[in-house]
Amino acid sequence: MIFFDDVSKIYTPTQAALRNVTLRILPKEFLSIVGASGAGKTTLLKLLIAEERPSEGKIFLDGVEVTSLGYRDLPQVRRRIGTVFQDYKLLSGKTAYENVAFAMEAAGAKDSEIRDSVPEVLDLVGLVEKANNFPHELSGGEKQRVAIARALVNRPEVIMADEPTGNLDPVTSWEIIKLLVKINEMGTTVILATHNKEIVDDLGRRVVTLEGGKIIMDEEKGKYVI
Ligand SMILES: Nc1ncnc2c1ncn2[C@@H]1O[C@H](COP(=O)(O)OP(=O)(O)O)[C@@H](O)[C@H]1O
Ligand SMILES: [Mg+2]
Repeated sequence: MIFFDDVSKIYTPTQAALRNVTLRILPKEFLSIVGASGAGKTTLLKLLIAEERPSEGKIFLDGVEVTSLGYRDLPQVRRRIGTVFQDYKLLSGKTAYENVAFAMEAAGAKDSEIRDSVPEVLDLVGLVEKANNFPHELSGGEKQRVAIARALVNRPEVIMADEPTGNLDPVTSWEIIKLLVKINEMGTTVILATHNKEIVDDLGRRVVTLEGGKIIMDEEKGKYVI
């Protein structure tokens, strides 16, 4: 379980990016975090992977206090959480296959494991035929599939996706969301930060709404209301 225990984040003294956020996310949940630009969605995700530290409060991942981990222990936690971003963050000089393989190399996997797992995960995201293409030879949706494959390949318990459809057209966006749903159904927790109302409403899953850094709503089968 992920547990945000009364977490606040203040970047500048005049304005809190997150205010007294208490949030429990259960294993295998599919959760959308919604809210206007500046509401605190990205901050919440960055705190979870300890890219930022809270000003107050604690964050736990299965009983491990992420917020008290030292620099050396961070890779271990980050490996348990796959990340997907709006701008894909692929390495332009590497093919789709190599981008995914690189995530495994960085995590210290054996060559034999890499040879087994990369094709498997490229198959899962529907990209086997594009394995040897470079990012500039892929569409936006395909690039995002590579990014999702890369996030998945080390078998994380959680995938967090920050505006993953922000650069995609509606049809492609929905394909990416369907892929995240499939991954969730295979047993991975998915945390989706988005301001896409259509997607959130069509998903019919749990929705946490942030406004000015505060959780103003947290509903099962929620809707995007602000
Ligand atoms: N590194 C930073 N330094 C100062 N302020 C920041 C920083 N990152 C985010 N903020 C501020 O924190 C608030 C929340 O931002 P963010 O978490 O990016 O929101 P969202 O992802 O919902 O758009 C905004 O007011 C933003 O300007
Ligand atoms: Mg954001």
